[in-house]
Amino acid sequence: MFARSAVRTALPVARSFSTSSARQTKVAVLGAGGGIGQPLSLLLKNNPLVTALNLYDIRGAPGVAADVSHVDTASTVQGFAADKLDEALDGTEIVVIPAGVPRKPGMTRDDLFNTNASIVRDLAAAVGRVSPKAHILVISNPVNSTVPIVAATLEKAGVFDPKRLFGVTTLDVVRAARFLSEVTGAPPSETRVTVVGGHSGPTIVPLLSQTKLGKDISGDVYDKLVYRIQFGGDEVVKAKDGAGSATLSMAYAGATFTGSLLRGINGEKDVTVPTFVKSPLYASEGVDFFSSLVTLGPNGVEKIHPIGDLSAAEEKLMAECLPTLKTNIEKGYAFVA
Ligand code: NAI
Repeated sequence: MFARSAVRTALPVARSFSTSSARQTKVAVLGAGGGIGQPLSLLLKNNPLVTALNLYDIRGAPGVAADVSHVDTASTVQGFAADKLDEALDGTEIVVIPAGVPRKPGMTRDDLFNTNASIVRDLAAAVGRVSPKAHILVISNPVNSTVPIVAATLEKAGVFDPKRLFGVTTLDVVRAARFLSEVTGAPPSETRVTVVGGHSGPTIVPLLSQTKLGKDISGDVYDKLVYRIQFGGDEVVKAKDGAGSATLSMAYAGATFTGSLLRGINGEKDVTVPTFVKSPLYASEGVDFFSSLVTLGPNGVEKIHPIGDLSAAEEKLMAECLPTLKTNIEKGYAFVA
């Protein structure tokens, strides 16, 4: 008798808890055993908006999960071995994908296409089958092509929602703030730069003219700064000398973007950051995906902002960006077709 009434009174309490501010958000990391995946998982474990973390990889995810699970934050962590992809995706609201091979010296991101295209396609198909409403955050390169691959794969399965697919270009934004801060001497918190376009060399377009501290930079200093933002990844690839590309700064960038999306999903207003999404901005020129400032909300993309006024130098960068970006996007589409 006592036990039954205890159960009855317990139920409404549990229900009111789950519908209050303590929203349940399960995040999966696919490729969690890798150079990016491991520190990214650690950083996500530290985010209070993540309540459960599912770590999947074809190698090593249970070990990473056991390790990360000892961190004393509230979220639960589970690791999933190679044959447990569907279980890893079950009930996830956000899926972050850093699975695939990284660059070695002398390689462009496009050189990774042959290996990473099929990895990303297969993972996207699984997300479409198991958790079709999940927000998908693509880190695997070449982002300009892997994002269209995910879109086309989900489209084929009849579950593509353009509001829930993001190419993670945050590292370009992080680098731009850092490098502008080094040029000006101001702290990075005061040198935020909107970076638009895509995520590889000439498709990365930093809008320095729209920043207070960057707008007057010109000549050689401007050229060098833009080059460094566009090709900063090469500095890391070269310094690692065959051991891969950016992992720690990328994990930071990936966790930052995931954090922004989590805040938007949880109802915070005006969370606006650059990200690579299906976009109307240059669609008339055949560029279906484009990174620009996007406001994030409960359903993902809430508003895609126009890029605003460009300087003459930025117009030139944009003219170089668009044809390459278009080719990269078409390559992704063609792979799935
Ligand atoms: P990594 O080789 O250290 O790790 C990749 C992980 O993916 C490995 O643990 C591997 O076992 C796993 N993996 C491979 N196939 C898989 C599959 N089918 N399912 C699940 N996991 C699978 O490489 P790293 O350095 O972590 O880089 C990962 C990707 O991120 C690369 O494509 C790299 O180019 C890209 N990247 C993207 C950046 C961006 O700004 N978006 C910046 C830096 C890297």
